Amino acid sequence: MESKINFMDAIDLLEWQLELGVTETIGNQEINRYLEVKPKSENKVKANIASSGKKVRAEPTLVASSMASAANSLDDLVQAISSFDYCDLKKGARNLVFSDGSPHAKVMIIGEVPDLEEDMIGKPFVGAAGQLLDKMFNAIGYGRSLSDTALYLTNVVPWRTPQNRSLTDDEMEVLKPFLVRHIQLVQPRFLIVMGNTPIQVLLNESRITKLRGKWKTFSGIPTLPMLHPSYLLRNPLAKKETWEDLKMLKVRLGEDL
Ligand code: URA
Repeated sequence: MESKINFMDAIDLLEWQLELGVTETIGNQEINRYLEVKPKSENKVKANIASSGKKVRAEPTLVASSMASAANSLDDLVQAISSFDYCDLKKGARNLVFSDGSPHAKVMIIGEVPDLEEDMIGKPFVGAAGQLLDKMFNAIGYGRSLSDTALYLTNVVPWRTPQNRSLTDDEMEVLKPFLVRHIQLVQPRFLIVMGNTPIQVLLNESRITKLRGKWKTFSGIPTLPMLHPSYLLRNPLAKKETWEDLKMLKVRLGEDL
């Protein structure tokens, strides 16, 4: 028998979807996800885990670690992340936001989470925060173009969150192996970690306003925590501190301003 819902229930359902982060309808056909074939690389990882005698039930972080360490190039890593099905953020995102700039850059910047603009275009830092970031680094002669003074940019996670909510600890944990592998493949001379999310994931620290400007090390790479450009847009007076950090980076790069 055909079931009908009344107008008020339909409104409630729509509101519930908005709360979950649905921003547009993309199809009117139901998809039976149970019939979807798992990507090959993921099946291979599960087979390896099974044959190694470990638990057959795939543990998301373990799957992510195996897939990440099997990636021998940035292209491999993009493939691995694209076929990783254990993070629900992927389902709500339009695009995978992997990186921008030169993979040969001396300076690699790690941001937090892609926003709406980044999700639409598939590149990190293309919205208002990204424009400020470009201005900041251009002021010390660095930019996204392929040159000696190039930057390379990525984020802690490659998918936007529903309604720009903060990442959960689980999401950070599960996706961390891809970020760590990304850094290993790029091998920058310096890492810049912008905002609370990357300092939590990579340095196990929590307060960027306290940590900014204090050099740390991640996996042997000198790492400078800096205020996130979104924070600077909300707190323009803090730009002064960021300018000090940029000058310090310039000195570490062995360059004059
Ligand atoms: N904020 C980030 O941290 N990364 C982006 O790509 C955009 C905004």
